[in-house]
Amino acid sequence: MKSLPFLILFLAAIAAGDNSSYVPRDYILLDCGSSGQNKDQDGRTWNGDTGSKYAPSWLNSVSSQAPNQDSSVPQCPYLTARVFTSPFTYTFPLGAGRKYVRLYFYPSNYSNHEGADAFFSVTAGPITLLQNFSAYQTAAALNMDYLIREFSVNVSSAGLNLTFTPSKNYSNSYAFINGIEIVSMPDMFSTGNPLLVSGGTPIPYPIPDDWAMETVYRLNVGGQAISPSGDSGLYRSWADDSLYIYGAAFGVTYGADPNVTIQYPTTLPEYIAPVDVYSTARSMGPDPTVNRNYNLTWILSVDNGFYYLVRFHFCEIQYPITKVNQRVFDIYLNNQTAQEEADVIAWSGGIGVPVYEDYVVLTSGSGTTDLWVALHPDLKTKPEYFDAILNGMEVFKLQDGKNNLAGPNPDLPPQPDFEPDKIFNKKSNFNSTPVIVGGVVGGAAAIIGLGFLLLFLCKRKKKKGKDAAGTSDGPSGWLPLSLYENSHSAASAKTNTTGSYASSLPSNLCRHFSFAEIEAATNKFDEALLLGVGGFGKVYRGEFDDGTEVAIKRGNPMSEQGVHEFQTEIEMLSKLRHRHLVSLIGYCEENREMILVYDYMAHGTLREHLYKTQKPPLPWKQRLEICIGAARGLHYLHTGAKHTIIHRDVKTTNILLDDKWVAKVSDFGLSKTGPTLDNTHVSTVVKGSFGYLDPEYFRRQQLTEKSDVYSFGVVLFEVICARPALNQNLPKEQVSLAEWALHCQKKGILDQIIDPYLKGKIAPQCFKKFAETAEKCVSDHGIDRPATGDVLWNLEFALQLQVSAEEVGDLMADGIISDVDGGPVMMDGKKDVDDPSMESRTTTVTSTSTMSMGDRSIISEDSEGLTPSAVFSQIMNPKGR
Ligand SMILES: *[C@@H]1O[C@H](CO)[C@@H](O)[C@H](O)[C@H]1NC(C)=O
Ligand SMILES: *[C@@H]1O[C@H](CO)[C@@H](O)[C@H](O)[C@H]1NC(C)=O
Ligand SMILES: *[C@@H]1O[C@H](CO)[C@@H](O)[C@H](O)[C@H]1NC(C)=O
Ligand SMILES: *[C@@H]1O[C@H](CO)[C@@H](O)[C@H](O)[C@H]1NC(C)=O
Ligand SMILES: *[C@@H]1O[C@H](CO)[C@@H](O)[C@H](O)[C@H]1NC(C)=O
Ligand SMILES: *[C@@H]1O[C@H](CO)[C@@H](O)[C@H](O)[C@H]1NC(C)=O
Ligand SMILES: *[C@@H]1O[C@H](CO)[C@@H](O)[C@H](O)[C@H]1NC(C)=O
Ligand SMILES: *[C@@H]1O[C@H](CO)[C@@H](O)[C@H](O)[C@H]1NC(C)=O
Repeated sequence: MKSLPFLILFLAAIAAGDNSSYVPRDYILLDCGSSGQNKDQDGRTWNGDTGSKYAPSWLNSVSSQAPNQDSSVPQCPYLTARVFTSPFTYTFPLGAGRKYVRLYFYPSNYSNHEGADAFFSVTAGPITLLQNFSAYQTAAALNMDYLIREFSVNVSSAGLNLTFTPSKNYSNSYAFINGIEIVSMPDMFSTGNPLLVSGGTPIPYPIPDDWAMETVYRLNVGGQAISPSGDSGLYRSWADDSLYIYGAAFGVTYGADPNVTIQYPTTLPEYIAPVDVYSTARSMGPDPTVNRNYNLTWILSVDNGFYYLVRFHFCEIQYPITKVNQRVFDIYLNNQTAQEEADVIAWSGGIGVPVYEDYVVLTSGSGTTDLWVALHPDLKTKPEYFDAILNGMEVFKLQDGKNNLAGPNPDLPPQPDFEPDKIFNKKSNFNSTPVIVGGVVGGAAAIIGLGFLLLFLCKRKKKKGKDAAGTSDGPSGWLPLSLYENSHSAASAKTNTTGSYASSLPSNLCRHFSFAEIEAATNKFDEALLLGVGGFGKVYRGEFDDGTEVAIKRGNPMSEQGVHEFQTEIEMLSKLRHRHLVSLIGYCEENREMILVYDYMAHGTLREHLYKTQKPPLPWKQRLEICIGAARGLHYLHTGAKHTIIHRDVKTTNILLDDKWVAKVSDFGLSKTGPTLDNTHVSTVVKGSFGYLDPEYFRRQQLTEKSDVYSFGVVLFEVICARPALNQNLPKEQVSLAEWALHCQKKGILDQIIDPYLKGKIAPQCFKKFAETAEKCVSDHGIDRPATGDVLWNLEFALQLQVSAEEVGDLMADGIISDVDGGPVMMDGKKDVDDPSMESRTTTVTSTSTMSMGDRSIISEDSEGLTPSAVFSQIMNPKGR
């Protein structure tokens, strides 16, 4: 420490030269198996390796093209590969120093080799990067189409030899590579002074200069994914952190106050992390009591037996936190204290000033394990706020003493015992021309949706990776660093008490049923067992010999659009497994029948428990729990699966309840995966149900997750007001629940239109939170609506408020809302406000209406007249696990 002044001068000198933007000395993009130049999604130009100076012996290898490629996979560099059956070395003359080496893999059949047969090692000079590596198995386990592995190696002035060696132990084994990227990087590891977290007081653990490491996670905490082009100079990818958060405790995310500009201090070069990382953050939430009782936790799956360098990026970006001892917290790694009394302002010197901190943890044993990262307020110094903050996080695996970075292949998930494609390809040749849709029994919405669906399916069938994702910079338009991508699912399944995720279909679950079995179960399709009729066909209640109750959806064998929908549904459902989603238990495709079998959902739809029903009203807490369950299901659709899935038809009849009142989101028959969306096709159709339709979607015809958030907001209002989303019998301004409830909420009189049954039973703070959440969800502009994760968090929070209020008996009195921040606010108490909820519980009016929106006029089957049994999808629950 005696040389501190010198050190500061020295750092300042470095910074002066470097602080602008980093310009890499070496920057190589090699598109393996290809010749000429190609541009990737980020607009970067890759050079083919055929005849390249880096691949002197390229004649000893084969260049090959994947036989087919999903349209979600970028063509460059994944379309072509170089395939090796004997060791092969690329030689890169480079300047001395650290380089990022990024390897791009798209497991597929190449030439006469099968994807699953590729087992190989990759070495960078003396360092083993990968050993017995199966890209196929890794991608399957992570539910990814393609992989990027990023390494950092310090090379000498002699350059770098990158060698691919097929494993000898497997007879058909070969090696392949789709793309190699090499970028010089500045020295970012020797300056961090990492501390080794080992139970006691953390001790300094400097990282040796010549050690290689692998980036296993790089997260923009509280912000969006950042693509390589958004991180200029180093071309790093930063992923969204929300997939890795433990449980439902997501905290809150926010961006920088408009008055705050991010200012890198002279000691911190800008290349440490881009401004976008520091200008978004996640913190624990507004309630000190809640914060004291939980840890904001991320769970990251890693290989055992290595040291990991964990780098945290911090920056205070919002007032009023400008001073020391306002927000102080502890950092835990693997349940051990890494840092007490972390105070970002004390470290950085002020608001808007970034800072980072490094810690090292050791994992022992073999296989994989979960790395737990947790933050909790530190109260010892009596800070002003009980809260914590994080802006970014990187996790690097350090090489071991044997120059090795390689871990085992992850275990394959259980395989489905059927391939949806196989079932259908032989019987349907519908990839020729789109059919004109007509004569479908069911909602206008479904008809509109089908046109879109057809286009979508036809497009998919071609499996041509057109430049579809070119414009998207959402989380999946390009690939974030993907070693452990989606592994959240696995971690949560183990640890989360409420969530259960799995990426693949357990073979015992999706059963094939014979037509005879189906006939027996439904008493030969007895109309007395009919649960509903929809665009797809009829839904029957059935029972198998062993007493299992099921819902059986029978498609009309003649309808071609039915085939499409059947295929979509079976593909979607078989891939999605979540406690709060309905899922498929079997199917039957005998005799040209298209039959899907689901568990029977004992309590039917959410709507039939809200209004126009003989059933007893649901207590408020139960309604909240159902909303939370549905929000979890939606959140999983939006963030948990391989592609973002937009439901497109969120409504109370698509939220089903099982015998234990667990909410399940249903009807993915018309869902649509997000990122491969081709907007030119969307523009011809609008899908959804009137009363729930996102006005922005209607205006701009752009589909995003926020459209589902809007519909979910309407559901929230429906749940608290117990009236339909549209009710034509009411005065004009009250017809649309979304508009009317929003109007009442803005005037502070929402409490006057709530379900009379709920009056006096909702805690004021809970009511406020719930109403605000619903209000935000139905914001006119998608950008103002919260993400489903935030909705979920707010609902959880509302439930906590209700529970704690019930303990002390602080419930909302009729007509009075007591404001959380101030005293009680008196309403004007007029009782003559029309209370639609009163009437809607007792009347059963069926109406058909003509809705006119924009310049379109569409006959809508009213959302009013739908009896629960007239619902398209009556479905079900994977309880057999
Ligand atoms: C690869 O080849 C095998 C056997 O030839 C085949 O079963 C498999 O479907 C092929 N995979 C792809 C992605 O084409
Ligand atoms: C790379 O391999 C070539 C051929 O084996 C060898 O001559 C060269 O020294 C190697 N370079 C490095 C940096 O190891
Ligand atoms: C191949 O098997 C031998 C033993 O039979 C083992 O020592 C070696 O590590 C294996 N190599 C690979 C690459 O799997
Ligand atoms: C690379 O290693 C050499 C010594 O092996 C060291 O002098 C140099 O500082 C290292 N470079 C970086 C960027 O760590
Ligand atoms: C932010 O800027 C606005 C307008 O420039 C100003 O009115 C406001 O007081 C500022 N807020 C803070 C906290 O400095
Ligand atoms: C940390 O604690 C949680 C429970 O509090 C436990 O499930 C988890 O396994 C622990 N993690 C480690 C790495 O010890
Ligand atoms: C937070 O995590 C630490 C370390 O695992 C643990 O000791 C503590 O009990 C946790 N606190 C809460 C409220 O869960
Ligand atoms: C190579 O990987 C496969 C698949 O994970 C595994 O079954 C096999 O045991 C591994 N072989 C060696 C030598 O590690």
